[in-house]
Amino acid sequence: NWSMKDFIATEKALIREKVGTDKVLLGLSGGVDSSVVAALLHEAIGDQLICMFIDHGLLRKGEAESVMETFGKNMNINLVKIDAKKRFMDKLKGVSDPEQKRKIIGNEFVYTFDEEVKKLTEGEDIKWLAQGTLYTDVIESGTKTAQTIKSHHNVGGLPKDMQFQLIEPLNTLFKDEVRALGTELGLPDEMVWRQPFPGPGLGIRILGDVTEEKLKIVRDSDYILREEIAKAGLDREIWQYFTALTNMRSVGVMGDQRTYDYAVAIRAVTSIDGMTADWAKIPYDVLDTISTRIVNEVDHVNRVLVDITSKPPGTIEFE
Ligand code: XMP
Repeated sequence: NWSMKDFIATEKALIREKVGTDKVLLGLSGGVDSSVVAALLHEAIGDQLICMFIDHGLLRKGEAESVMETFGKNMNINLVKIDAKKRFMDKLKGVSDPEQKRKIIGNEFVYTFDEEVKKLTEGEDIKWLAQGTLYTDVIESGTKTAQTIKSHHNVGGLPKDMQFQLIEPLNTLFKDEVRALGTELGLPDEMVWRQPFPGPGLGIRILGDVTEEKLKIVRDSDYILREEIAKAGLDREIWQYFTALTNMRSVGVMGDQRTYDYAVAIRAVTSIDGMTADWAKIPYDVLDTISTRIVNEVDHVNRVLVDITSKPPGTIEFE
């Protein structure tokens, strides 16, 4: 793709000219945008790039490992992994209100980032902060609506008192161009075509309070869903698909034993931008395999439900 090659060459030159020999910090979430920024900056400035990946313990199964593998092991990027699982779990303990959960996770993320950056900058002189801002983010920030439906949290938001200069190499691009750029930079397909994942992570896909046991249920059931959707070749067609743990338990039978366990919901939607969405018509045989596997393979689940609500009036996430 000639125009992407051209974009890469021009951007690399611009970035080099801008930062000189300075160090650049990037908050890497594993999402498409920050991943593409990491790959681009690494090509432009190599070891002057320092990436920070915060594991808040609310990630999907295999996600932290895949970030470490792709960027640390395969691309050899300077990558600092922060294990913040405990502090998030401690803060979330016993909290079941959706907005309160979102606020706790969002705030804790900023505090963690802030603290870790301070530690990092004691040893290193870092002047620049890179962000995966897209053209659409630039437009949208000018048109905030007055009413908050959900308080959004974006990984990599800039803490208020930080003294960095910003680099936003994607701020003239749309999402499809960012994906093309990622492919051109050699990122693996599963990273470039990754479905959207909310900043608060699995914390808002567990209705009610978050516990380790519930996290394991969503992780394992979501992993099965993702495997079967990919096997059926539906992973690019369906915009977003995941499981949520309803806070409901019901009676079932396993062997000849009564069970009283959790119900897991499948949420899958087609959409262009997440603002509106239709529930995805996953073929019955695929749903059948998913349901059988989840009930058989995931402990404490005895019922699988499918969400057939579009947005509006439903939202994509449950909280
Ligand atoms: P809703 O649930 O509002 O979701 O219909 C629309 C899209 O936004 C994603 N989402 C988030 N993304 N931080 C994010 O970066 C958040 O706090 C957040 N909440 C929801 C959601 O996954 C869907 O793609």
